[in-house]
Amino acid sequence: MPSLVVIGAQWGDEGKGKLVDYLTAGADWVARFQGGNNAGHTLVVNGVKTKLRLIPSGILHPHTRCAMGAGVVIDPQVLRDEMAALGKSGVTVSPTRLFIDRDAHLILGYHVAIDRAREQRAGKAKIGTTGLGIGPAYEDRAARCGVRLADLTAPTELRERLQALVEEKNKYLTLVLNSEPISFDSVWASVELARAELLPFMANVSNLLEEASVHQQKIVFEGAQGTLLDQAHGTVPFVTSSNTIAGAAATGCGLGPKRIQYVLGVAKAYVTRVGSGPFPTEMEQATAHEVRERGAEYGTVTGRPRSCGWFDAVALKRAVRLNGLDGIALTKLDVLRGLPKIKVCVKYLLDGKELNDAPALASEYARVVPQYVEFDGFDEDLAGVTKWHHLPRNARFYISTLAEIVGCPVTMLSFGAERDSTLFSSQGAFEQNFMPQQGV
Ligand code: IMP
Repeated sequence: MPSLVVIGAQWGDEGKGKLVDYLTAGADWVARFQGGNNAGHTLVVNGVKTKLRLIPSGILHPHTRCAMGAGVVIDPQVLRDEMAALGKSGVTVSPTRLFIDRDAHLILGYHVAIDRAREQRAGKAKIGTTGLGIGPAYEDRAARCGVRLADLTAPTELRERLQALVEEKNKYLTLVLNSEPISFDSVWASVELARAELLPFMANVSNLLEEASVHQQKIVFEGAQGTLLDQAHGTVPFVTSSNTIAGAAATGCGLGPKRIQYVLGVAKAYVTRVGSGPFPTEMEQATAHEVRERGAEYGTVTGRPRSCGWFDAVALKRAVRLNGLDGIALTKLDVLRGLPKIKVCVKYLLDGKELNDAPALASEYARVVPQYVEFDGFDEDLAGVTKWHHLPRNARFYISTLAEIVGCPVTMLSFGAERDSTLFSSQGAFEQNFMPQQGV
C-alpha cells in the first residue's frame, strides 16, 4: 500500500491531526519527522477530546505503530506527561507501539530558558515563539553539542559533557541575555527522567521504516507546523527552526525520498497565523472575530488567539511547489458558512508591481497589497454532507476554483472535528489508494 506524507500548507494549525488520525485507520505506521511539542493536535473521537503534542496522532488506532524520527526534538517531561494522560484515557503507550529514534535530540532546561530570555530581550522584534526551547535545541543539533537519545546510554560520558555545556549556557544566559542561570541538577534530573522513561522506547526508526516500506506496509508521515513556517523556505525570520516541508519526511526519518508516493497538503478554507510576522490577507476585525470564534482559533499549546485572514492563493501556490503537492485536503469550510462574500487573494502588489511569488524580505512582505477575487458565500449547513455533489453549489464553485488557481486538486474535505465529518472529492485515484478501510 502506498505511503504518504501529510504536511501543513499554510502557517500551521490547518487541522492535520484530524486528517492523520483519519488516514492512519488504514496504515501500519505513522511517523513524526520534525518539530517538537510546539505542535498541538486536538483530536475528537466519540466526543472525547485528546490533545497530542509529540506522540503521533495514530496512537489512537490500536493496530498502528508510531514512530518519532531523528528529526524530532523531545522534551522528556512533556513526553512522559503525554504518555500518562493517554494512559488515563485508556490508550496504552508501550514500546511495542511507540518507537523513538536513537538520534532524536532532547530539549533540556537551558533550551527553554534561552528561548524565553531571547524573546523577552527582543521586545517588539520578537518572533513570537512558543517558548518551549525548540529553536535552541535545533541550534545545538547543528552545532553538534546537542543530547541525543542514544547519549543517555553512556551516562558517565554525558554527565561530564553536560557539566561543561551547562556552564557555557549559563554564561550566555547571564552575560549576554541578562537572565537567570539554570542549575546543573535540574538538567540532570531531566536526563535521569529520560533515561528511566524514554530509553525503553529507543529504536532505529530509519531501519524499521525501511523494512516496513520494503514489505509494502503503509506509512503516514505526519508533518507539524506548516510550509510557511519552514526554517529555510518560510516567512523568514518569523518561522520555526525545523524544515516543515514534505522533503523533511525523508531526512527526518532517515529514508530515501522515493519511499513516499503521495504528498497531501492540508489547508484551511481561510488562513490563520500565531506569533509575529507578515500576514497580508488579515481580515477586517469583525469578520476575523467571527471566524476566530466559530473556528475555535486559539493555540492548542499556548492558548494564544490566532490572527485570521482570507485564503492566500499566492502563498498556497508556493506550498504546492515547495512540497510537490499531489493533493490538497481543505479543512474548516463550515466556518465560512453565512459570510455573504468570501475573498481569495490571487496576487500580491509590491510598490505597484505584481509579484509572482512571496518576497524574501519580511519588511517587503509586510508591505504587499493583496489583490482579491470575491465569491458568493453559502448559507447551507454542511453537517451531514457526505457526498461531493451534496455540497452547496457556491461551496463547490469556491473549492474547484481554488484548486484551479493554485494548480492542485482538492482531494479531501473536512468539516468539524469528528472523524466522520471527512469526505473525499471526486478524485478517484486518491480514494482508491489512500482511503481507510470501511467501518472505521
Ligand atoms: P517555535 O517553533 O516555538 O520556535 O516558534 C516559531 C514560530 O512558529 C512562532 O511564530 C510560532 O507561533 C510558530 N509555531 C510553532 N509551532 C506552531 C504550530 O504548531 N502552529 C502554528 N504556529 C506554530
